[in-house]
Amino acid sequence: MAQATILVTGGAGYIGSHTCIELLQANFNVVVVDNLDNSSEESLKRVEEITGKTVKFIKGDVRDAQLMADIFTNDDIKATIHFAGLKAVGESCAMPLEYYDNNINSTLVLCQAIEKAAAKANCKNLVFSSSATVYGDPDKLPLTEDMLLSATNPYGRSKLIIEEMLRDLPESDKLNNTSAPWSVALLRYFNPVGAHESGKIGEDPGGIPNNLMPFITQTAVGRRAELSVFGSDYDTVDGTGVRDYIHVVDLARGHVKAVEKLLSAEGIEGVQAYNLGTGDGVSVLQMVKAFATENDVKVPYKLVDRRPGDVAACYADATRARVELDWVADLSLEDMVRDSWKWQSLNPNGYES
Ligand code: NAD
Ligand code: UFG
Repeated sequence: MAQATILVTGGAGYIGSHTCIELLQANFNVVVVDNLDNSSEESLKRVEEITGKTVKFIKGDVRDAQLMADIFTNDDIKATIHFAGLKAVGESCAMPLEYYDNNINSTLVLCQAIEKAAAKANCKNLVFSSSATVYGDPDKLPLTEDMLLSATNPYGRSKLIIEEMLRDLPESDKLNNTSAPWSVALLRYFNPVGAHESGKIGEDPGGIPNNLMPFITQTAVGRRAELSVFGSDYDTVDGTGVRDYIHVVDLARGHVKAVEKLLSAEGIEGVQAYNLGTGDGVSVLQMVKAFATENDVKVPYKLVDRRPGDVAACYADATRARVELDWVADLSLEDMVRDSWKWQSLNPNGYES
């Protein structure tokens, strides 16, 4: 039996397309709105191929208030997952206004559309894509949701501002005696990597990749000469940066769990933040070695200076997601490196292949 209809903003992107698969496989109906600024419609065609189900796709910008109002009029949306936004830390330092405009205004316009639509049918259920970047430069690990938040760049600040903005919504419900109040899950992702096991969808960054995994896969496939390892003098297991890498399929399943919780009788009261990570720290060199060994490929690399703004180590305590959402990351480091390589080797030029 078909379940509720879920609106997925930015659903053609990397995490969004994987989440569409998991939603469809859990029998939800899916409506995607995406302006395709950092993605292609091909990802959604492949989602349909993999699942044998259809996605309703609307090309457009979430900042378009009329478009968003129309979506809520035309479809009986019960919950929204808001992925749409800009996400490159370095780029956000060079063009902060674009980041504040896209990330904050899209959330504002979306929430206004939800609030208006809620006058007719309860739809004030939101899952927001936050990030471990809201923990800034932490002095204690693993990171728990109640730790002090801060931002070290405009991208991170946009996520922090949005988190704060969303916290005001249930407070307004109390003052207005609303019968159907806001229910919001802030999902703070650690480092998503990997791809669907079919190799049909995956991460397809434009230009030179900023993130480690796409740089590794593009080096292995011959599109880049060598990987630069940023910093080898950190106080970590081998001197290189340590992160909590999480398979994108585990991450996608975390969104389904959050939606199910929002729509359950118990629900989520007000706004709640959840770390989505494995809890394991993996260094850059450990990742390179795991990738090369599991896939039997070479990844030439050189050690270079630290990248400005990087922290030495960052990993999650994901206990709250386990207890409250019944979610844990199941897939291993081997799964992550194998699936990343399957996607890249089958699609050496991404969706253009
Ligand atoms: P992505 O760029 O692949 O996906 C974002 C999608 O949103 C793209 O398809 C893009 O075309 C679309 N989009 C952007 N602005 C839009 C707008 N105004 N209207 C409509 N569509 C718009 O990125 P992703 O890696 O899938 O990330 C999804 C979300 O998760 C983002 O909010 C990002 O900040 C957050 N996040 C990502 C990571 C990561 O490492 N990938 C880590 C933490 C948080
Ligand atoms: N790294 C390299 N060489 C590269 C790219 C990265 O050595 O070419 C290293 C980095 O120095 C770091 C690690 O690999 O030690 C991971 O770097 P990423 O750029 O892949 O990821 P970050 O942890 O810097 O940031 C990512 C997302 C952010 C998000 C954050 C959440 O880019 O948007 O995870 O933890 F906020």
